[in-house]
Amino acid sequence: MKENFSRLRGFQDIFGEDLGYFELIEKTFRKYAKLYGFQEIKLPILERTELFVRGIGTSTDIVRKEMFTFEDRGGRSVTLRPEGTASVVRAFLENNLINLPQYSKIFYSGPMFRAERPQAGRLRQFHQLGVEWFGGDEPLIDFEVISMLNEILLELGLHDSTKIHINSVGCEICSPNYKEKLKTFFDENKEKFCDDCKDRREKNILRIFDCKNETCRVTLEKAPKTSENLCDTCKHHFDTLINLMTKSNINFEINPKLVRGLDYYTRNVFEVVFEGIGAQNAIAGGGRYNHLVEEFGGPYTPAFGFAMGVERTIIALKQKEIKLPEENSIAICTISENEIPKALEIAKITRGKGIITHILSYYGKISKQLKIADKLNVKYTIIIGEDEVKNNTVQIKNMLSGEQKSMKVEEITTLEI
Ligand code: HAM
Repeated sequence: MKENFSRLRGFQDIFGEDLGYFELIEKTFRKYAKLYGFQEIKLPILERTELFVRGIGTSTDIVRKEMFTFEDRGGRSVTLRPEGTASVVRAFLENNLINLPQYSKIFYSGPMFRAERPQAGRLRQFHQLGVEWFGGDEPLIDFEVISMLNEILLELGLHDSTKIHINSVGCEICSPNYKEKLKTFFDENKEKFCDDCKDRREKNILRIFDCKNETCRVTLEKAPKTSENLCDTCKHHFDTLINLMTKSNINFEINPKLVRGLDYYTRNVFEVVFEGIGAQNAIAGGGRYNHLVEEFGGPYTPAFGFAMGVERTIIALKQKEIKLPEENSIAICTISENEIPKALEIAKITRGKGIITHILSYYGKISKQLKIADKLNVKYTIIIGEDEVKNNTVQIKNMLSGEQKSMKVEEITTLEI
């Protein structure tokens, strides 16, 4: 292929085994999202730029340097969505879902776009599976949503290698005091921070925790902690969640440096960290955002949600050597064209039984058909010749043992596939 047709960096084709894992993750997520009473919404991939600028925040890395933004034909600034929460809130208000109780819990899935520097586990187009719960500030909601995610991890077999990092970033009452303390700490250690952090100090000091620079990270070890600077209400909210988590079987730890890379969070935030997949080890993240609905012109509507990253979860599943459910299939080969009607008849029976069936008659000589059957990794190959048509039988070959025998057509449905 000519180079100028090649894939863009950070964009992937997903097929084969990875697609198998993709489907498994999505199926498991959907199962639990529905069991917990979430309603699905399909959202546009392209939105007005302003939605994300207002929703995610001008000081975030996402808005500052990672959005795929361009002018559409009408001269409007539009952006490929970098995340789903802002769009869900827009849809929630725009479609008056706020008046439909069944839509207080919404789930979504699909591609997101961030122009980050690509590396293992960090893509420019990646897929998220997310849920958002509107209308309650009780820590029990935070707990139920985290429990749901924990059940997904358990069913996928990732539970024992993941840890939920949890923190509280406070609210509009305690956060300003905390930010002042952090600024004082920053000013005392100014020379140890990078230029990007100096900029972050001016725009939103909390964002210094997003810095990937090693010196900044080490310096931040000694920074005042959000969880030690909460107002009584936030502290009680956080402690209640921690109590509920402690009583459950959820593997978690309090991470005082966790502030999440989006500005809309209030109170409890969390990330699911998978040990051993390198720097990009957060396979899911989320938290409470009590003022985003108001930010977009709606009434005060506290909310909580998370999104999991499909590609990073795939890496985790592969690392843990989680087996995919086997998809068994059969091939039908014919000696000559005369047996094709019989092949079609048999394929109807096997497909009717839910067996993946490849008719290989179109590939020419029987020897070639058999070679293809071998490569397709099918469990059985059915071979039909003149005699088989006459006797209403088939030759059936077990591809694993190599054993071949004659079988009545009616008996095909009794095969263990
Ligand atoms: P986020 O932490 O930015 O949160 O993204 C959620 C997950 O998406 C991450 O944990 C990660 O698995 C995956 N992800 C993010 N960026 C990339 C990337 N460049 N390449 C591959 N995977 C990536 C949010 O997006 C929030 N909207 C989550 C939320 C929902 N908060 C409340 N409700």
